[in-house]
Amino acid sequence: MISIMKSWLAIVLSLSSSVAEEFNYQEAQVPAYQLPALLQQQDGSSAETSKQWQETRRAEIFHLLEQRMFGVSPPRPTLRFRVMEPATHALDGTALRQQVRVYFSSQDETALDLLIYRPRNSVKLPPVIFGLNFKGNQSVQSDPGILMCRSWVNNQELKKPDIHHALEESRGTDAGKWPVAYAIQRGYAVVTGYYGDIDPDYDDGWKNGVHSLHPEMEKNRSSETWGSLAAWAWGMSVAMDWIVQEPSLDGKRVAVQGFSRLGKAALWSAASDPRYAIVISQNSGAGGAALNKRIFGETVGRLNRSFPHWFCKNFHRYSENESAMEFDSHFLLSLCAPRPLLITSATEDRWADPHGEFLAARATNPAYSLFGHEGLTATTMPSPGQLVNDRMGYFLRHGRHDVTQEDWKAYCDFCDRHLPQQP
Ligand code: GCU
Repeated sequence: MISIMKSWLAIVLSLSSSVAEEFNYQEAQVPAYQLPALLQQQDGSSAETSKQWQETRRAEIFHLLEQRMFGVSPPRPTLRFRVMEPATHALDGTALRQQVRVYFSSQDETALDLLIYRPRNSVKLPPVIFGLNFKGNQSVQSDPGILMCRSWVNNQELKKPDIHHALEESRGTDAGKWPVAYAIQRGYAVVTGYYGDIDPDYDDGWKNGVHSLHPEMEKNRSSETWGSLAAWAWGMSVAMDWIVQEPSLDGKRVAVQGFSRLGKAALWSAASDPRYAIVISQNSGAGGAALNKRIFGETVGRLNRSFPHWFCKNFHRYSENESAMEFDSHFLLSLCAPRPLLITSATEDRWADPHGEFLAARATNPAYSLFGHEGLTATTMPSPGQLVNDRMGYFLRHGRHDVTQEDWKAYCDFCDRHLPQQP
């Protein structure tokens, strides 16, 4: 408890000390920068074919980001799960709700509770939109059947100045971010789990969550050992192990989605796991889709100071030193290629640098070209509300840092167009 309170204090202090910091929000103040060449391989030659990309360049980029940014993750456990609730009518009979507990090791009880809604009357297996949530599964819908989350929750929005487990009053508080009825109506199943089940989001020196299940790795922790973002990404892949074997879902047509820090995690999960058919990054910003070398909005230094547990130690060498980065977010995005990738931003979310997210997508086009895809064809930022529905899609919504039904409409329109057709 004392260490939890200390961490809470650290969060509060880091937030308040940030007030004095200044961040750039002027396009004119973006420094001159050069993006590392995406296709240039370590031997100096350029990847010119999809084969060269798949066999050499992609692996080089993955390795670089693993060593310098997210850290190395352990192998996944053998799938072990428990059905907590069999398929049950929900959402006025339009859906079936199911709940499953997926364990992170063969012996330990640390587990991720998955909440699944799928259309009740679909003739074919439904495609899936899968993403982690911020406040526990019970926050996703005001549905009393949802199991209450058992892990650490940061209940700031409940105006409780401390950290405790989820409460009844948190039911449905994030329903705006999870318009499940809308997704069901569009023919999609929705699968979600609480990110704190995987690793509680505070700096405890990587002692709790799934880190605790790998004592050898923690004992020999180095500058390249995984941080919390990699742990969330890894936990998503463990969930995916369950999704792909579940007979009521179409495991070949899964879109992985993540918002904000969970957008960063979703991108890394997609980089590490080829089974996602589509990738959706919503307002993932610095350390996610936005170009860090632009130093617009959140910076690498600020990320590392506020959230020292997110990335591996090596990433800290780039604090206030973005020009030294041998990579930028286009490297991270390129690990999705040739899969369809949708990047969404919001006009008022300058902290996450919408323009930097758009430019990063543009800078990723060479990887898509190797596969004969155009990537993102728009050369200038589209107007808010206009989905650029290319293989690399981009959507800018009016408004603030959030997820809304308008975003989900863009997700569904994008998936309708780009998911592989069912035979
Ligand atoms: C903070 C943080 C961002 C992050 C966001 C979120 O604003 O600085 O990097 O994306 O939290 O996850 O909501």
